[in-house]
Amino acid sequence: MSKRRVLTGITTTGTPHLGNYVGAIKPAIAESQNPDVQSYYFLADLHALIKAQDPRRVQQSRLEIAATWLALGLDTDNAIFYRQSDIHEIPELTWLLSCVCAKGLMNRAHAYKAAVADNETDGQSDPDRGITMGLFGYPVLMAADILMFNAHKVPVGRDQIQHIEMARDVAGRFNHIYKGDYFTLPEAIVDDKVEVLRGLDGRKMSKSYDNTIPLFVSEKKLQKLVRKIKTNSLEPGEPKDPDTCTLFQIYSAFATEEESLDMRRRYAEGIGWGDAKNEVFEYLNAHLRAPRERYEALMNDPGHIEQVLLKGAERARAEANALMERLRVAVGLGRFQ
Ligand code: TRP
Repeated sequence: MSKRRVLTGITTTGTPHLGNYVGAIKPAIAESQNPDVQSYYFLADLHALIKAQDPRRVQQSRLEIAATWLALGLDTDNAIFYRQSDIHEIPELTWLLSCVCAKGLMNRAHAYKAAVADNETDGQSDPDRGITMGLFGYPVLMAADILMFNAHKVPVGRDQIQHIEMARDVAGRFNHIYKGDYFTLPEAIVDDKVEVLRGLDGRKMSKSYDNTIPLFVSEKKLQKLVRKIKTNSLEPGEPKDPDTCTLFQIYSAFATEEESLDMRRRYAEGIGWGDAKNEVFEYLNAHLRAPRERYEALMNDPGHIEQVLLKGAERARAEANALMERLRVAVGLGRFQ
């Protein structure tokens, strides 16, 4: 029996934060340990160029994200871990898919529609002003990422479900036009149990709100950020509600069930915000200390990270190559013999 293939990409534009860890990295690393699963995790660095045109930022983010996944214990003998940009077959597949993908389908993509809507609200005469072909074709590149490895399951956030549906649509069209089962139709998995962590100001933790707690900052900085988490004006001794409290949510995302229950009781007993923050800081710091040390060592040895990623790319390309050979023949670009 062949294994279930699970694939996901991480756009390399920012610095990984606690929300990324709880929402994506932790469940992905756990899934990669399942013996029935072959996982493919990659740095979506071609996608990064759609949003970021500062080469230093793109380069730094790729390194940070790779170091983060490795520091948190991704086993790269098991998971196939690679950079999208190392798999030259991906842009090639993107082209084949572009040629069967209806433009009208892309017109309906949320990200593109949102950009057009912004132009319209701004009173722009050209609704496509400032919109690149990269942004417009984003879902086709993403479809190539997924279809290249015939992924069955794609764990993503809710905002990405439409892209997986588009990948299915394009895969189906290609299979139909070229009369074969070239591609597996992928399915999105959105895990409702996985928490969306809130950030310093109580909104969803996200780099676009600038309210994140990066995973691997210094102890001092971590303490400062935990102290900045928004609470309310209740005094020590007054009972507090853990269920609406960002500090508690962040704590319980890391703590065991028992520890969370205990903290819940102390909220009811009226723990002061200063004390609660100190405890949450101490707890997070104790949990992040070892991976933070590994992270720092990795960041100081980019050559090692490069080797790990090249090894991943080699495994990925072995598969990508085999599929591309078939696809070239399917569309009429096979070898003369
Ligand atoms: N677009 C995804 C995001 O922003 C990242 C991504 C790129 C991806 N390619 C993918 C996710 C393929 C899953 C599968 O989150």
